[in-house]
Amino acid sequence: MTSPILDKVLGFAEQQREQFEADLAELLRIPSISADSKFQGDIRRAADWLVGHFGDLGLQVELIETAGHPIVYAESPPVPGAPVALVYGHYDVQPPDPLDLWISPPFEPTVRDGNMYARGATDDKGQMLTHVKSVQAWLATEKRLPLQIKFLIEGEEEVGSEHLEGFLKENAEKLACDCVVVSDTSQFARGVPAITYGLRGIAYYEIRLTGPNRDLHSGVFGGAVTNPANALSKILAALIDDKGRIQVPGFYDEVIPLTEAERAEFRSLPFDEVAFRKDLEVEALTGEEGFSTLERRWGRPSLDVNGIWGGYQGEGEKTVLPGKAAAKFSFRLVPGQDPEKITTNLRAMLDRLLPPGIKMELVESHRAPGIVFPFGSETMQAAADAIEQGFGHRPVFIREGGSIPIVSTFAEVLRAEVLLLGWGQNDDNLHSPNEKFSLADFHHGIAASAALWERLATVQ
Ligand code: BES
Ligand code: ZN
Repeated sequence: MTSPILDKVLGFAEQQREQFEADLAELLRIPSISADSKFQGDIRRAADWLVGHFGDLGLQVELIETAGHPIVYAESPPVPGAPVALVYGHYDVQPPDPLDLWISPPFEPTVRDGNMYARGATDDKGQMLTHVKSVQAWLATEKRLPLQIKFLIEGEEEVGSEHLEGFLKENAEKLACDCVVVSDTSQFARGVPAITYGLRGIAYYEIRLTGPNRDLHSGVFGGAVTNPANALSKILAALIDDKGRIQVPGFYDEVIPLTEAERAEFRSLPFDEVAFRKDLEVEALTGEEGFSTLERRWGRPSLDVNGIWGGYQGEGEKTVLPGKAAAKFSFRLVPGQDPEKITTNLRAMLDRLLPPGIKMELVESHRAPGIVFPFGSETMQAAADAIEQGFGHRPVFIREGGSIPIVSTFAEVLRAEVLLLGWGQNDDNLHSPNEKFSLADFHHGIAASAALWERLATVQ
């Protein structure tokens, strides 16, 4: 299965294990939090770190300014007769709070039990870096790559990739490629690597309700003045029924249903539902009636309140009727659903639900459609072989519930096949305290990536 050239490349990677881990730790030390403007300097430091790193590998590299956070672009020389791969990843991370739940501080990478703990360890610095390191190993041993590789690493994925779409459209020629490689998803389970062929989309909102012009004594005014926190609870509760069906008119009209064949595929995966539930310490799992847990997570829409506030949050009690209340909530969408249409119908529904005495503001943010890719192509087979080589197991084909907003644009604008090759695990705590990435998965990912370049080079 393996060639003498690849053996040398993998040998180099093996010998550099500690150095590669040290490089990852260095990047993880930079708190590149895209959502919080206080960290703008650190966003830039992370981008600069990557620029330096690509430069050291001898790649042509550019730091591209946008109206938001910079994009890092790097490329190796063209290889006549061979295809072009574009690696996409992100150097920005989610906010680390609540800080007191971290065992070691989020930006002081720490190794425990074979895992590197830090914000961004798996999402996405660790996963993204596997491709940089595999390129380093190829160049150090062979002085060349078997195909041209372009790197597009952005700093706004965790805030919806707002400025990337325009960049992609304006630079379609520069970014032209045969396939896009993204490692920002997960394996199915330990020892069960996966190729992800579908992601859910998202539509995210903040609803702000205003009642009286100031906070009031709930004894003096309660019962006579509409309380915005009461109104908010009622409105949010009306968005979904007891069977887990979202109540926005027309919400399911365009949903592409899961086929029987796909449902059977999901059932055949080695999913341990009891272990999944126990890991979360919940008594029961719930969701849309008539669907399994994997179907609910990967192939059906959902609604989550992501944050909710209003009234007194401090110690003890305060008998207050708050003047304002607000919530952030989002739908995960599946293929077929149109985020714009959903927003229009949602607005109309909220207007109807709004009780007298309350003013509403609805702010829209992230939106991305759900996607599924056909699978079984030669490129996907090449990826499956490379993963088998790197991880020692053949991957399963799965869908996942998270979103990577730019992925649908890659397929549309670059007309390239997208390979979602996740090296993470579902319990890596992405977006949660104690995010981690298994160092074994980091090195397996580097090996799989190194093998991928050799295999992709032979796909016509
Ligand atoms: N890496 C995740 C997406 C992901 C996680 C896909 C797990 C599949 C499995 C990505 O960085 C992410 O979190 N994206 C955001 C996008 C949002 C901010 C528009 C998400 O899904 O919440
Ligand atoms: Zn994320």
